[in-house]
Amino acid sequence: MPPPETEQEVSHDPPWFQNGITFATVGDAAFMKDPATIVEYGVPIDPKVMIEPPDPATLELDPGHPGLGDTAYLQRREELFALCRRHRRENLGPPLVEYTPEETRIWRDVSSKLDALHRAHACSIYLTAKEALGISTKEIPQLRHLSARLEDETEMHLVPAEGPLAYRTFYSYIAERGFPVTQFIRHGSHPEFTPEPDMIHDCLGHVPSLMNRDYAEVLTLIGRAAFTTQDPLQVLALKRFSWYSIEFGLIEQGGQTKVFGAGILSSTGEIPFSLFSKDVKRRPFVTSDVIETDYDPSRMQDHLFVIPSFAWLRNEIEELVRRFGIPVV
Ligand SMILES: [Fe+2]
Repeated sequence: MPPPETEQEVSHDPPWFQNGITFATVGDAAFMKDPATIVEYGVPIDPKVMIEPPDPATLELDPGHPGLGDTAYLQRREELFALCRRHRRENLGPPLVEYTPEETRIWRDVSSKLDALHRAHACSIYLTAKEALGISTKEIPQLRHLSARLEDETEMHLVPAEGPLAYRTFYSYIAERGFPVTQFIRHGSHPEFTPEPDMIHDCLGHVPSLMNRDYAEVLTLIGRAAFTTQDPLQVLALKRFSWYSIEFGLIEQGGQTKVFGAGILSSTGEIPFSLFSKDVKRRPFVTSDVIETDYDPSRMQDHLFVIPSFAWLRNEIEELVRRFGIPVV
């Protein structure tokens, strides 16, 4: 995730204190005792949205989005929104998109800066996969071509996404070995910032690791579990597990801490911040803590978990899904 434009005041009280929910131990199938209330991003939400996610049919940009007020940008976003939504819903695969000089300029600027940071700080799973996939820093790749390459290698494929999809919708595709990827580029006024996951986040954060078969198996297991369970609290737990690993995980490698998560890997600000800032609390990845820890996606992530190894992470998610009694392991 990108740096926020404005900092928000977020309570550091654990969410269950704020709402009077009592948690059972993680070993129980239902790890929270009050399924009527769940807290996400610091506020209570209707548990139903975890199971019956919304599916907005029109482009919605948050207040403060740098593209608001730029008519040409909004028109382009609406055009890509309609195209990608149709391709997603009709199972047509990623459309071929002709990118503008401005979009290519932003891609070149950000992807070359990220490339240097990746060489220094990314974990080996990501680096090896990125090299194998050969994404150019010069031209924006066509998702259709990347998808065919992934299909050959790990039987994953890319699904065109018009924007961020609701978590359960997102994981319904992953359960079928499809990874939803946006095809729009962030606004050019802030090339290193985007308030929502864009193609740079998806293509340079998520897609390369899909070339790794073990990574693909972990991801699809989370997807199958999140799509199968009917318990909103289990969906929330899987979402947090995924956030603190797939999106914002750090990982131990050869005595060093490296970057594993796509949200960090796709941000020139977040990579050094995650590894070196004194403002970041880095804790060992303990699944029982992770699934009880809320987060705020709109700001720099100052609370991260360090995964001991990828094999360990795989074992943890398999164990969690088994403990939840979700019949997919
Ligand atoms: Fe992401």
